[in-house]
Amino acid sequence: MPTLVKQAAAAVGGLLLVALVAWIAWLWNESRIPGTYSVMDYGVVDYGGGSVPRGGHADHIHGGMSVVDLRGPAGKANDRFTLVAEKAKVRLGSGRTIDAFTFNGTVPGPELRVKQGDLVEVTLVNKDVSSGVTIHWHGVDVPNADDGVAGVTQNAVLPGQRYVYRFRVNQVGTFWYHTHQVSSKEVARGLYGAFVIEPREAPTHPGLDLTLIAHTFDAFPALGLDTGLGVRAVRPGTPVRLRLVDSDSTPQRFVLSGTRFRVLALDGTDLHGPQLIANETVEVPAGGRADLGFTMPRAPVRLSLDQTRAGLALSPDGKAEPPAAPAGPLFDPTTYGVPAPTPFGLSSHFDRRFELSIGQKFGFLDGKPGRHWSIDGHVYPDVPIFVVEKRDLVEVTIENHTHSVHPMHLHGQHVLVLSRDGRPISGSPWWPDTLEVKPHESYVVAFRAENPGIWMDHCHNLVHAVAGLTMHLVYAGVTTPFDVGGMADNEPE
Ligand code: C2O
Ligand code: CU
Repeated sequence: MPTLVKQAAAAVGGLLLVALVAWIAWLWNESRIPGTYSVMDYGVVDYGGGSVPRGGHADHIHGGMSVVDLRGPAGKANDRFTLVAEKAKVRLGSGRTIDAFTFNGTVPGPELRVKQGDLVEVTLVNKDVSSGVTIHWHGVDVPNADDGVAGVTQNAVLPGQRYVYRFRVNQVGTFWYHTHQVSSKEVARGLYGAFVIEPREAPTHPGLDLTLIAHTFDAFPALGLDTGLGVRAVRPGTPVRLRLVDSDSTPQRFVLSGTRFRVLALDGTDLHGPQLIANETVEVPAGGRADLGFTMPRAPVRLSLDQTRAGLALSPDGKAEPPAAPAGPLFDPTTYGVPAPTPFGLSSHFDRRFELSIGQKFGFLDGKPGRHWSIDGHVYPDVPIFVVEKRDLVEVTIENHTHSVHPMHLHGQHVLVLSRDGRPISGSPWWPDTLEVKPHESYVVAFRAENPGIWMDHCHNLVHAVAGLTMHLVYAGVTTPFDVGGMADNEPE
């Protein structure tokens, strides 16, 4: 090659290299998340093919209603609780002691029981959790200011501070509460508890009604704090309801042996016409709940957390320790129970239709190169913001193009599942708040937009959420005065 051509080629090559480096530097710089920012200023606004609200996006950033005004009703509360967040040592059933974050000194925090229709008031006090604390009422469709998301609906409550949550409970069922500040770490360390809404009328035969929260402490799986087999005496003929909660970031499988049983409710919503089943393993997604019901037989019954030593044995004398049964086929909520009329369905006219497609992508996340979670092809914070208007009928298609399980949780509303992998739901209506989307599955879900606010929609594998699997559903016209990061150190994930 003549020298001149060689030199020219080298020059072009050099320029390309400089351009490539400059482009990567630009991508890197673009991906950096400022120290303080509003979740409304990021993201790609998506109207789901529906009408653009008056004034468009700028209007709902700068005009309209603030989340702080979306509060529960005034008036005298029927139930008042105080939850004090504090560091404490707690002892697992195995005798091992762990450094925990607690509500009122215990893990799980106290179980709060209220009645449907109650006005509930909870005062959160942070004694000494230096990273700050909030309380999110997982699955309870509270007003937005009571949703407990640091940097979106409130500031994190720092040591010495307090925050009062007030909301009326119109649902019935099993819920839970947990901190939504640095949640990937603080929930793992114990800042959670059960929240049970009982029907107004007490049942005539109350029986045994027990909440069991599955949680893994430093790799030790437990029910409550019990890492082994708990035993309990129950008279044959007693109606039993076991409220199973998964406060971990991965699914938990429960095996119930020695009796036939029904799955009475999922995520705090009763199922219609639940049949008796046996030997099926019930998988509860991270953040999800399942209520199992049966009548206590004469022989012992055992509930086990599959592949662990943790479990509960019920028997007439409270002494039996039946062996763990092997796992059976997985319970399938899409075919269980009996269909019933629903307020909308696959053939409804939707005002907006969104896609929430989960993938992975090479790029930068806050300046860190790697293969990151993506939503609709974008890495956080450039993920979509779904904008809706009050009363819209909204459809969301969730697709998982990754090899991981993603328990997707939308705050503030329950969604009706319409189909999975293109097959319509054939059993009871199913209204999850935490929908486990397995690798390569797709779901079509729908909801009526009736609870104005700015609502997180994220993966409840909190390790994924903090790594960018987080986005927001925004009602047009609602704004937030709070920022993520900054003085208050709001870090919701
Ligand atoms: Cu249970 Cu946003 O979480
Ligand atoms: Cu995930």
